[in-house]
Amino acid sequence: MNYRRNLLITGGAGFIGSHVVRLFVNKYPEYRIINLDKLTYAGNLENLRDVESKPNYIFLKEDICDLVRMLDVFTKYKVDGVIHLAAESHVDRSITDPFTFAKTNVMGTLSLLQASKESWANDFDGKLFYHVSTDEVYGTLEFDDSLFTEEKKYDPHSPYSASKAASDHFVRAYHDTYGLPTVISNCSNNYGPYQFPEKLIPLFINNICNNKPLPVYGKGENIRDWLYVEDHARAIDLIFHKGQTGDTYNIGGFNEWKNIDLIKVIIRTVDRLLGRETGTSEKLITYVTDRAGHDLRYAIDATKLKNELGWEPTLQFEEGIENTVSWYLNNQEWLDSVTNGVYQKYYEEMYETR
Ligand code: NAD
Ligand code: DAU
Repeated sequence: MNYRRNLLITGGAGFIGSHVVRLFVNKYPEYRIINLDKLTYAGNLENLRDVESKPNYIFLKEDICDLVRMLDVFTKYKVDGVIHLAAESHVDRSITDPFTFAKTNVMGTLSLLQASKESWANDFDGKLFYHVSTDEVYGTLEFDDSLFTEEKKYDPHSPYSASKAASDHFVRAYHDTYGLPTVISNCSNNYGPYQFPEKLIPLFINNICNNKPLPVYGKGENIRDWLYVEDHARAIDLIFHKGQTGDTYNIGGFNEWKNIDLIKVIIRTVDRLLGRETGTSEKLITYVTDRAGHDLRYAIDATKLKNELGWEPTLQFEEGIENTVSWYLNNQEWLDSVTNGVYQKYYEEMYETR
């Protein structure tokens, strides 16, 4: 079959990537969607069971850092568009293992940029390299500062955000130096189904279910701006198709929460859905040593995306949290498998025997 586009989505077995892959596979049967993922601890093909047998979907277990393999993939699959999500994404891991973050997030992005440039060989017509980035590159805000706009100077603090900032700079350098058609988006904190339970919301839901302590960093006063993951995927779809080449778009929920207030909402929701008396699990809150270099506040101004492309978050936070908690409670098997590492072993064995 001749597909209208051959779209490479990296990191499609991860949290946000799996929602983007699902959206594109279902919405664009005329596109071939090539999901390329190394299946690190964060990648899980269970996240894509519902689309894996679709004719326009292919999965490749590859490492974005391997330039030779990336060049082969571009040639073999006639890749004409990239949505790049593959990354090491957890701030706490970046504090203990910064080199892995530099390798994957910086060198991996560079290798994909180079593969795009070489494969498209200056015939950039109809091509696009879309880099998915984070609001953390902008640094931190005080309580009364105005929101991050696209003009905010980069000021990353963690090894994770430094590696994402570096990768954003490389994307712009390939655009400005070689004319590679690129676009970047910087999004706030995502939540929803299929998020690995090391991140705040799924970790806390899982711990509440199992009556385990809820480790609140510092005083729980840090603020994050939360967006339902499917709204992020919709924004990516819109920017991929209608965004201005060479441009940057902020994506956010206009939905700021102090950690401790958010945690109490989660506790109340889980308690209610488990039939426990409301607030029972508040006793699990345990204040622990703060994260090193912990950014106080992130908050995105997504006005440009609204004004230029008409995007807005669709889901109210109360509904998003209800959906999310219900999903984790109804998918205990998924949670158990990713917390006991069974899925990782399964895929290692499967790929060894091929
Ligand atoms: P995730 O950790 O859930 O998934 C990352 C995926 O990348 C995994 O499937 C993993 O196997 C894959 N991967 C890692 N190293 C790879 C490599 N070398 N080669 C190929 N694949 C590799 O991450 P996420 O939360 O879904 O984030 C996806 C992207 O969105 C990241 O670039 C992240 O920086 C960005 N982002 C995340 C958030 C958020 O709240 N989670 C917010 C804004 C931006
Ligand atoms: O802002 C976008 C970023 O959001 C993404 O780029 C990252 O990939 C994503 O991981 C996320 O980063 P955060 O560090 O904000 O997310 P995390 O879920 O790790 O933490 C959210 C807040 O909760 C943060 O202030 C730290 C705090 N926290 C987190 C954990 C895991 C706790 O208090 N206790 C915890 O156990």
